[in-house]
Amino acid sequence: CGIVGYIGDQQASKIIIEGLKRLEYRGYDSAGIAVLNGKLEVKKGKGKVSNLEKMVTSAQNGQIGIGHTRWATHGEPNDINSHPHTSQNGKMALVHNGIIENYGTLKKKLTDQGYEFYSQTDTEVVAKLIESFLVKDNRSLKKAVQHALHQVEGTYGIAIVHSDYPDQIVVARKGSPLLIGVGEGEMLIASDASAVAAYTDKVVYLDDGELAVITKEGYTVESANQIELTKEVHELALSLEEIEKGGYDHFMLKEIFEQPKAISDCLRGRINSEDGTITLGGIEDVMDKLVNAKRVVIAACGTSWHSGLVGEYLFEYLAKVPVEVEYASEFRYKEPLIGEGDVMIAISQSGETADTLAALREAKARGALVLGVVNVVGSTIARETDAGVYIHAGPEIGVASTKAFTAQVTVLTMMAIKLGLEKGTITKTRATELITELSRIPAKIEEVLEDTTEIQRISNLFSYAPNFLYLGRSYSFPVALEGALKLKEISYIHAEGYPAAEMKHGPIALIDEMMPVVVIAATHHTNDKMISNIEEVRARKGRIIAISTSENTEVADLAEFTTIIPETMDVFSPLVSVIPLQLLSYYIAVNRGCNVDQPRNLAKSVTVE
Ligand code: G6P
Repeated sequence: CGIVGYIGDQQASKIIIEGLKRLEYRGYDSAGIAVLNGKLEVKKGKGKVSNLEKMVTSAQNGQIGIGHTRWATHGEPNDINSHPHTSQNGKMALVHNGIIENYGTLKKKLTDQGYEFYSQTDTEVVAKLIESFLVKDNRSLKKAVQHALHQVEGTYGIAIVHSDYPDQIVVARKGSPLLIGVGEGEMLIASDASAVAAYTDKVVYLDDGELAVITKEGYTVESANQIELTKEVHELALSLEEIEKGGYDHFMLKEIFEQPKAISDCLRGRINSEDGTITLGGIEDVMDKLVNAKRVVIAACGTSWHSGLVGEYLFEYLAKVPVEVEYASEFRYKEPLIGEGDVMIAISQSGETADTLAALREAKARGALVLGVVNVVGSTIARETDAGVYIHAGPEIGVASTKAFTAQVTVLTMMAIKLGLEKGTITKTRATELITELSRIPAKIEEVLEDTTEIQRISNLFSYAPNFLYLGRSYSFPVALEGALKLKEISYIHAEGYPAAEMKHGPIALIDEMMPVVVIAATHHTNDKMISNIEEVRARKGRIIAISTSENTEVADLAEFTTIIPETMDVFSPLVSVIPLQLLSYYIAVNRGCNVDQPRNLAKSVTVE
């Protein structure tokens, strides 16, 4: 979900809608806006921000307001469940990200007091709870919010406007990101910096438990125990260009093509192929602990979990440290055996994923050192980890993650080489070879991107396939998972990724002349075995689409289609072999008329567990 708010001298609705459009990638079931124009004016409804834009009229003129795009948690996406939600007296409106866990109990209490509820959302309960405190004790809006939040269990980022308090927006945060965009004579609030970047480059990030009152001229922030805080003002390193499509049809395509640059940015200043060293400023101070780590636990979700799997192969091979890769959501609820001497690496593009955040807090509480591999600078995960390495991929807007994946893998590669060097599990000469090849990866990706005609041809042929199978071994196994996920996410085709040999234990039953099987034959040390698996698919008349190098004529001879990728070392192959898979899913989704940047039911940043 996304939150935007404005207070100043300009037309609030215009700025809010523009901000919501930039946040739409975070959730897009419905959208809404509340503006103060003498009285409270609310417009909201199912569908996209462009829908909302059409609904807004001059009645919603005003210089203060809040808006929301929603990704449904409680209650189906419809007009009534859309945010903002209002108080019974129609004076106050509230937008909310997160989940209120005790909303059932609160709702019952409020119903007993005579409050009526129209939606199925947990958010409406908070609106009425705040109202109950305002009405009862005639408190300031801030105090009423503080009181209400004391009774609330769960997570929230909220923003509130009230027609009796026309000169302020009250915001609060617990577990769901919120920031203040600091302008001159105007202020913005948002759940994501991209919504404010067009107006200011100064932001204040709220921390959990904090509440702020925003006026045209400034803001005050209080901690959970109501002590006024002086917050650091951060400079945003976000250009508008980066958050716009720049001539591409979709953000996803733009981001796929940005990968050579994203990886170069990620490597810049960190690798030195002359003396075979790697400098990762963010973790230099904790390298000792990493060197002595008994094991490494990687926690992540979605695509970031796949890059974690690549990390497992890299760390075990290069640095000889045992690695476990955990779904962050599962890690937390299994009484994890983690403690002092262990290192957790939390991987997250957004830095806000609730499950990953919860996993890292759990690991920290149990005494582990927690490192972050994060894209969004200043995000919650980046701030809560003990140390970390930013991936510097630039803003990723497309819901299907692409450049964040390759940049995450790049960071994990650098970490593994560095650790291997410090532990002595690889020699300096070997490190130099590796680093030299790593520095060539952006150019190799560029090569794949230069000619996409074969991938487009394959996409055209298979756009209407109901199922896809992706197979890989070793470093290509996580790539198979990622390829299948990309296809599922944006084209709604059922796809499964499998370790190629595991195919024999189940998926082989699905193979017939209708089944496209994407084989990622990109690692040398498993090539012979992969060829046997290809034969097994051929024997069942599966349609083989191979991702392989031009040197690998054996694979090309066996496959019905081959997409050629440049030769590289096995350890770096995921960085190159994933590119055609991203493109394949992209072109298929476009052919099927799917909304590539905003696939149904998904959200870019999942801040609920
Ligand atoms: C959502 C996104 C995925 C992403 C996952 C983890 O499901 O749609 O693209 O991989 O969250 O997000 P994170 O920001 O933690 O990497």
